[in-house]
Amino acid sequence: MDRLLVANWKMKLSRQEGITLAKNISDFFKDSNIKKSLSISIAPSMPILSEISNIILKSDINLAAQDCSAKDNGAYTGEVSAKILKECGCKYVILGHSERRQEQKETSELILKKTALAYKYGIIPIICIGENIYKKNQEDRIQELNRQLTPLLSLREYSNKELIVAYEPVWAIGSGIIPTTQQILEVAQHIQNIMKSASFTTNKNLKILYGGSVTSDNCQEILKISGIGGLLIGGASLIYDRFIRILKAAFEIENASN
Ligand code: PGA
Repeated sequence: MDRLLVANWKMKLSRQEGITLAKNISDFFKDSNIKKSLSISIAPSMPILSEISNIILKSDINLAAQDCSAKDNGAYTGEVSAKILKECGCKYVILGHSERRQEQKETSELILKKTALAYKYGIIPIICIGENIYKKNQEDRIQELNRQLTPLLSLREYSNKELIVAYEPVWAIGSGIIPTTQQILEVAQHIQNIMKSASFTTNKNLKILYGGSVTSDNCQEILKISGIGGLLIGGASLIYDRFIRILKAAFEIENASN
């Protein structure tokens, strides 16, 4: 699997800002060598999914949603189903982002329901996990992560499909502070060890992303970490120049490792 870079726009851009940014990224990407070795995905706000899809598809950039409903269909005012996300062109859906775990009190159980519906409609889930506060001690960090990670073992029944797990320490999101490469490596190894028992492995059907204060300055170091298959990028994906610098830096690493 190629390295994957996912731009998580959150609720930060207007419709017009999103359209302009998607056009610019798309124009850059379609004529660039970068697309031969990197996969890119953009996760805009729900109401502009179809519009953004039309802009980016011709450049081989994929669409992602930032969430989906845990219900398949029915009288659920305000919810957005996995089925309609698929119809809008989504290849991926971000699930269990810490902002939703915190603000919407999303539980692992709810996230697993959403995951099942994503799979039902042929969407690849990007499930976010991450410890809330900085834990210096590796054992404490792993213990906290396990509360979000071990429920994913029930996904064994989907091991014929792809799964993406994004490690996003909550304290690193938007803070400008990132874990050491050793810490990210240890977590990536732990995710691999746990998910192996549900038949998800990084050389087959599991990709591990890192997210939290990714920039063009730190992305190469992160992408060199064994087991890390890509990045989930928030703030730095909202500004064209910053995002393109990350793409170029990631491409250098990809070329160097081929
Ligand atoms: P950030 O956000 O890159 O702005 O830290 C990442 C995320 O929340 O996915």
